[in-house]
Order: sequence, then structure tokens, then C-alpha cells
Amino acid sequence: MTGLVRKIGLFAALMTAGAASAIAPGYDQLYRPQYHFSPRENWTNDPNGLVYFEGEYHLFFQYNPFGDEWGHMSWGHAVSPDLMHWRQLPVALPEQDGIMIFTGSTVVDEHNSSGFCTGNKACMVAVYTGHTPPSGTRPALQTQNIAYSNDRGRTWTKYPGNPVLNLNLTDFRDPKVFWSQKSNRWVMVVSLPNDHKVRLYGSPDLKKWAALSEFGPAGATGGQWECPELFELPVEGAGRETRWILKVGLNPGGLGGGSGEQYFVGRFDGTRFTNDNPASQTLWTDYGKDCYCALTFNHLPAAHAPVMLGWMNDWQYAAKLPTSPWRGQMTIPRKLSLRQTGAGIRMYQQPADELQGLKGESIAIRGSTKTYSHSFELQAEMKPGGAQQVGWKLLAADGTYTVVGYKRASGTVFVDRRHSGRTDFSKDFPAISEAPLQLPDGVLRLRVLVDRCSVEVFAGDGEVAITDLVFPPAGASQIDLWTAGGNAGEVKATYSEIRSVWSQ
Ligand code: FRU
Repeated sequence: MTGLVRKIGLFAALMTAGAASAIAPGYDQLYRPQYHFSPRENWTNDPNGLVYFEGEYHLFFQYNPFGDEWGHMSWGHAVSPDLMHWRQLPVALPEQDGIMIFTGSTVVDEHNSSGFCTGNKACMVAVYTGHTPPSGTRPALQTQNIAYSNDRGRTWTKYPGNPVLNLNLTDFRDPKVFWSQKSNRWVMVVSLPNDHKVRLYGSPDLKKWAALSEFGPAGATGGQWECPELFELPVEGAGRETRWILKVGLNPGGLGGGSGEQYFVGRFDGTRFTNDNPASQTLWTDYGKDCYCALTFNHLPAAHAPVMLGWMNDWQYAAKLPTSPWRGQMTIPRKLSLRQTGAGIRMYQQPADELQGLKGESIAIRGSTKTYSHSFELQAEMKPGGAQQVGWKLLAADGTYTVVGYKRASGTVFVDRRHSGRTDFSKDFPAISEAPLQLPDGVLRLRVLVDRCSVEVFAGDGEVAITDLVFPPAGASQIDLWTAGGNAGEVKATYSEIRSVWSQ
């Protein structure tokens, strides 16, 4: 029956043991993510300084220590042994002398190139934008700065010679630094937001920087370019072949009108990035509205696949999210890979392998299932059959639901959150996010992560990611197979609860 929810199979009530364990105080509010990082309280935006060092993953993040709106930007700090369980530490880099600490990255200085490391050991060096707000007739100023830590990131010293890079510009920000094997120096990629350009700089010691090259404008230019990233990935199944990905945030001008991110596939010779594709082509890293300023981890163990995580939000409504006492959260850490496709080399994303450790038993589900947790993974393989549209209604109850589905006519996978619960806090929130997806063998593959207030879809083999926030009512616990315009073909699906990382 066209347009109607089809309930096939038996109503299955799922009670899982994990639901019983107590959640730490302060981490059990209605919308509080249970396996995604959010600060205990107050505002966060971009992830910063992601790095692995001496057995710990470090997540720094844009943070207002004094409230749940943007302001007093500082680097908050959390550490994890496994990318999933985070322990929040005191603020790493506070706003000081009226200079805010904007987005940046952290490197491990293995050979003391900076001269900051003591005791013949590697140390951590953070590279960030210092933002001095405008005052009187003086416009705002953004410069690049460094700070170092000799105690595994617990305490930081700002370099007295800061700034290390100053073009006297109001908009010049978000340095991502990495060690370039090819040119045997540190390389920084940093944004000139209004020019839709990134600039590359090189340095022997993280203190003196020389301009190397520029890239842009290219791709999407409907807003400021922010949060650039440059990293190398192997091309799967192509021997030792690699490509470099230049990822650039865009605000506004993303696919959904607000914040979004694009990537360029190309080569990097240690000095210059060259795009493999025409400048007019835009490739999106995520087709939802809520993945911005994603950053990869520096200094991962050689055997670890590259991992990226982003801020799960959009500047259009970030300040209005109905959460308290925190505002803002991160996406799941995502494992990245490259594949040769008919259209060219493309980036693939999947949740980091470490998520497996949090998953409960996989339970096969048929048509309609009641869950007792709003933190779960749904995996489905479905043949559209005779249906025009197939998919799932998630977090459903009494007219409230989020649809994750596929439209045959347009060959697109989508998330529709127009009826997902609270959507009234911003006119830009109700939305459908849609992405082209081929079904090479006629099977729609979906991996959907739900965590109280978010839906992250990895479709196909991970060639499409769609990340969208949702704010359903407490009782929205139903999962329903959904079709429109005919009956679905074969459907296989499993549900796994995902345990809270805030369990005591
Ligand atoms: C992106 C951004 C960055 C900036 C930071 C400030 O979300 O605007 O360009 O460094 O946020 O908080």
C-alpha cells in the first residue's frame, strides 16, 4: 500500500543486558550521546589537534569553558585508549590576553626539531590560530601560533615567539600540520577563507614558515573555506599507489545550504597539491547537514587505518540545539580508504573498527521492532523489489520518525528528518539529505548508527556518508521497515545495541 508503513513480521521486544548498567552522572540526559564524544558541559565546535601519542588518542576541541554558546574559544581536551571511551581533562589551551584559541592541529615532534622537547624524548606541539577580536576601528586579526607539552598533553606552554605566521589578515586560519617525508619538513595547510584558497607552508622547526604553494578556488565556493586537511591514502587493490586528499570545509554553501565539506583527490609532491579532476568538479565528504571540520589523527601507529572525525553540527542552527548542559558533539571516528570506481578515485568511510567492542549481540529483525535503547546500529541489505522507495523508519512513535531510505527513480539514498521530533528551533533544521548511490548488484546496503540525537548512515561500501542530528521524544523506540509504491524484495537486517561509553 503506497505511502503507508508496512509492518511485517512479529513485534519483537528487545531487552538487552547492556541497558541495565548505570550511566555516569551528568551523561544521561534525554539527548546525551552515549557513544559519541560530547563535553560534559558547555559549548563545543570543531575537533582540534587529533593525535595519537604514547598509547593515548587525544581529542582537543573548540570549547567555551564558560557557557553553552560560542565564545572564549579555547582548546578543550579529552583522551581515550580506544577512540571510543573518552575522559575529559582540564582545558589544554585557554583564551589568554584577549586572544582566542581557534582551530588547529597537533604533531608529535619525534626528533626535537622545535627544540621544545626535554629529556631526549618526543614532545607534542600544537599549531593553532590565534584570533584577536576587532576593537574600535582595528579589525580582527588571525595568526598562526604554537604551544608545546612535555607531559603527554597535560600542561602546555605557549611559545614566547608567537605568532609564527602573521599576514596581518582578518581571515587566515585553521592550520593542519604534518611531517612530509617527501620534502623532509613540516608542512602546513591553512585557509584563506574569503579567497576560497588554501595555502601551503613549509618549516624545518615549526617556528619559521615559508610559503610553498596555493590551491583554489575550485569545487564549491559558496561560502568561506575553513578547516583544510591534507593527507595521503593508499588506493585499495592498486599495489603501492596512493593519492592525497585535500578536504576543505565550506560555510555556508554546503549541500544543505549551511556548513558542508568537499574533498579533492590528487597528488602532493612535498610542495604543491595538484587536483586529478577538473576544478569545476565537487566531491562531498558527507551528504548530511551535520558533519563539519572533520580532521584526521596525526601520528597513528603504522598498522592503524587513517581515522577522521568531525563536529556533528551545522552553523545554521548550532547555537539553537535543544541540549543542556552541553551543546555540540563529535561524529563517530571514521576509517578512511580510497577506491578506484567507474567515476574515478573516491573516498570511502566506515565507523572505526574500535566500535565493534561496544556492540551487543546482533539480532535479526524482520519488519517492526521495538528497541529499549536509542543507541544502536541497524545493518540492512535489501532489494528494492517492486517498491519505488524502501527503507526504515527509525526512532518512531505516534507520527514521529526519521526515514533512512532509497528512491529508485532518482537512484538516491536519503535521510528525511522533517518529522523526527523537535525541529522547530530553526527553520533550517527540517530537511531531507540525499546522495546518489549505485546498487551494482541490486542490493541496498545500509549501516546506520543511531545515538539518541543523531543518525549516521554509511551506504553501499561506505562511498556515501550521511550525518544528521535528530531530537526525538523519549518514547520514540520503534524501527519499522518502510516502503512506498510497491513491495520490497528480499530484506535482511540486524539490530545491535551499542553500549554507553559513559557506563560506570
Ligand atoms: C569552523 C570555525 C573555524 C574556526 C573556529 C572558531 O567551524 O569557524 O574556521 O577556527 O570555527 O571556533
